[in-house]
Amino acid sequence: MMNKNDQETQQMINNVDLEKTFLGSVEAGQSLPTNTLPDDPMAPDVAAQLVEHYRLNEAKANQNLATFCTTQMEPQADELMKNALNTNAIDKSEYPKTAAMENYCVSMIAHLWGIPDNEKIYDDFIGTSTVGSSEGCMLGGLALLHSWKHRAKAAGFDIEDLHSHKPNLVIMSGYQVVWEKFCTYWNVEMRQVPINGDQVSLDMDHVMDYVDENTIGIIGIEGITYTGSVDDIQTLDNLVTEYNKTATMPVRIHVDAAFGGLFAPFVDGFNPWDFRLKNVVSINVSGHKYGMVYPGLGGIVW
Ligand SMILES: Cc1ncc(COP(=O)(O)O)c(C=O)c1O
Repeated sequence: MMNKNDQETQQMINNVDLEKTFLGSVEAGQSLPTNTLPDDPMAPDVAAQLVEHYRLNEAKANQNLATFCTTQMEPQADELMKNALNTNAIDKSEYPKTAAMENYCVSMIAHLWGIPDNEKIYDDFIGTSTVGSSEGCMLGGLALLHSWKHRAKAAGFDIEDLHSHKPNLVIMSGYQVVWEKFCTYWNVEMRQVPINGDQVSLDMDHVMDYVDENTIGIIGIEGITYTGSVDDIQTLDNLVTEYNKTATMPVRIHVDAAFGGLFAPFVDGFNPWDFRLKNVVSINVSGHKYGMVYPGLGGIVW
C-alpha cells in the first residue's frame, strides 16, 4: 500500500511523458542521424536537444578561437538578430529597410577608407556586404578582369588569343589562398612577386617588372596573414602613377584589407593605403577578424 507521498510521486511520474523528454527518449540512446533521413519522426524538443548536445563543445563563443578571435557578441545583438531571423535579407526589394541598412554600413566603411565625406553611395562609389573577404576578393578580382577586358577590346586586343593576351594578376607570394582560387576559376595567370626572410611584403624594387599590358591589376595587401606585415601601398601607387604615364593599358590597384581595413583607420602610424591614393580602385575587408562578430562577413567598396 502506497503512502500519500508515494502516490503523489507516482502521479508526477505518470504525468511526465518520458518519450517527450530528451533523456527519456529513444533517440537519446541512438546516434544522431547524419546520413539519411530517419524513418520515424521525433518530438521537436528532442530534435532541438540532440542538435544542442552535438554542438556543445564548440558553442562557447568566448572560448572560440578557431576563427582567429572570439565570436562572443552583446546580448542586444542577440536580440536584434533573433528579431530579424524571419527577414530573408537577400530579397532586397521585399525588405528595403534591411537593404538600406546594408548600404549605411558600406557607406560608413567607405568613408573610413578615404572617400570624402560629401560623396554618396551610388553617386560616387558602390559597395556590398560579402561572405567574408573571400567573396570580397573574388568580386574585386572579377571587376578588375572585366574592366581589363573592356579596355583591352577598345584598344584592339584580340582577347580570345590567350597566347598573346592571357590576363594576369600581380601579387606578393604570401597571398591568402582566395587569390589562387580567383586565378584558377577565371583562368588568370598569377604572377607572384617572391618574398623571403628579409622581404616580408610586396617588393617595390621589382613589382613593376611583373606588369605588362595584360595585367588586370596589382593586389596590395593591407595586413599580410602569413608575415604580419603590410604592403607599402603608397609607394606602389607612386610606381603605378609613373608606369601609367606611358602605358597603353593603365594598371589599377585593388587592396586586400581583409585584416587591416578595420584596424588601420583607427591606429596612428599607417601610411595612406586606401582611396586617398590615386590608383586604388577597390578595397575588401573582413568584418570578423577582430572578434565580437558571429557571422563570417565582409565587404567591398569600389
Ligand atoms: C589577406 C587576407 N585576404 C583574404 C582573407 C579571406 O578572408 P575571410 O576569412 O574573411 O574570407 C584572409 C583571411 O585570413 C586574409 O588574411
